[in-house]
Amino acid sequence: MNTFPFDLSSLAETPGLLGLEYQPETTSTNDWALQLSSDEARRLPLMVLTARQTAGRGRGSNQWWGAEGSLTFSLVIDAEGIGLPMDRWPRVALVTGLAVCEALQATFPEGVFNLKWPNDVYLGGRKLCGILVEVPSHTRGRLVIGVGINVNNSFASAPPELREKATSLVDAAGGEFDLTEVLSLVIVRVLQRITDYADPTHAFIAEFRRYCLLTGRMVRIEQGSTLITGQCQGIAPNGTLLVQTETGLRQIVSGTVSFE
Ligand code: BTN
Repeated sequence: MNTFPFDLSSLAETPGLLGLEYQPETTSTNDWALQLSSDEARRLPLMVLTARQTAGRGRGSNQWWGAEGSLTFSLVIDAEGIGLPMDRWPRVALVTGLAVCEALQATFPEGVFNLKWPNDVYLGGRKLCGILVEVPSHTRGRLVIGVGINVNNSFASAPPELREKATSLVDAAGGEFDLTEVLSLVIVRVLQRITDYADPTHAFIAEFRRYCLLTGRMVRIEQGSTLITGQCQGIAPNGTLLVQTETGLRQIVSGTVSFE
């Protein structure tokens, strides 16, 4: 395995980033970032990066499959310090997903990138990237934003159940990408979009419309034991999902979404 696929000195200079930690291998960058987030002396935003994650976590009890060539990293941000109130934290994954779409669109202009509410990025109808935002329990005001992007890891070697559902940039483009360049573009865009999001006057509606995968589709939203079905009408300016159900238009704040 290539244990050093990143240009760390170049990544350390990424505009807006004030700290970088790297290990060739770790269990989960989110777990590592959650530990580091309790160190009050750390300058934030901090990026925690690995070339190989052995126990990557997804939402709920899901796992994240990441092979050599994928990007797996977490950002620790001082949400309180940048003026992002707690009631807006549930939409940080969506805003991060939007930033990932924008950065990857610039990297691979031929690709059809979409945002699948609330926390995934799709490429050509298959999952490309997952986002897991967590709140550290021992430190106030901070957030950990974990991002997994399939870049140079071909799904030809993925577990069979994933092959039909997921994709990577190399599978879609037919050629490899420079991991440092992709990561740097993504980080700059994510930090920019999170800063925009801290400004309550900044509207995301045009960008949400442009990238929303679910608009016009029949969707099923699971919220624990509750199931909501209907036609998606897009993402509202406040980041909720608009669904036309048999009983009327509903604004969905959370849930696991499947679509037809
Ligand atoms: C999901 O699709 O449910 C979210 C997946 C998030 C995966 C990333 S990879 C980097 C970071 N570390 C983790 O353990 N998970 C996130």
